[in-house]
Amino acid sequence: MAERPYIVGNWKMNGTRAMLSEARAIDRAAQRYMKVEVAVAPPYTLIHAVHKEAEQIGVGAQDCHAGPEGAHTGDINAPMVADAGAKFVILGHSERRQDHAETNDCINAKIESAIDAGLRVILCCGETLETRDAGKAEEFVLGQLKAALPKFEDPAERLTVAYEPIWAIGTGRTATADDIAAMHGAIRQLLVDTYGEEASAMVRILYGGSVKPENAREILATPEVGGALVGGASLSAESFLGIVVGASESDES
Ligand code: PGA
Repeated sequence: MAERPYIVGNWKMNGTRAMLSEARAIDRAAQRYMKVEVAVAPPYTLIHAVHKEAEQIGVGAQDCHAGPEGAHTGDINAPMVADAGAKFVILGHSERRQDHAETNDCINAKIESAIDAGLRVILCCGETLETRDAGKAEEFVLGQLKAALPKFEDPAERLTVAYEPIWAIGTGRTATADDIAAMHGAIRQLLVDTYGEEASAMVRILYGGSVKPENAREILATPEVGGALVGGASLSAESFLGIVVGASESDES
């Protein structure tokens, strides 16, 4: 990996205040691996508390509403998560697309509102097994990105892309290194076509889907993999830090 690897924990709908001890342990250990950028996205209810504990790690949200404040019961918008201490937001995760029928247009609107609120964005994409078996994975993923990518000139500081094949999320299956390299290469080309060579060069492309300490090193050494978006294995400091260590070592190779 040429750039500083980015390892992000997505806690999904997990965690009460009892999890703050894990956040503290992750934060303390991250201070020993400064070559790796480490972050967690806890549920909304813990953003402020994790932000107050964190000295080293970044804290983010897992979603935000696209609109300004108003009558939307149960929703939380980008300025609100920024106010709670979030520095980034994960958008377009396949579980949001599935559970909440989020479309690429809706995700694009969320990205614009997040950027306006000063947040960095991790934009997720990924295909189902059916789409992959039909030989349409690349076309599908690039289609998702083309429709959702924001139209700004300098994406480097603000945008990260996460490729997460849906069939690899929470299943214990991971894509092969060849599959990951091919998809990340195609995404890189799209970023170059969209933003130009120089501006897109600093946009990291994360891989997500059953990343664990045991497979992290190989995945992170794959061409064009700039880090990992980690679900299940981010819920304990021990397994999450195993991935951070893998990132620090694959960076040396
Ligand atoms: P997983 O989830 O690591 O549990 O497969 C990854 C994700 O959905 O971000």
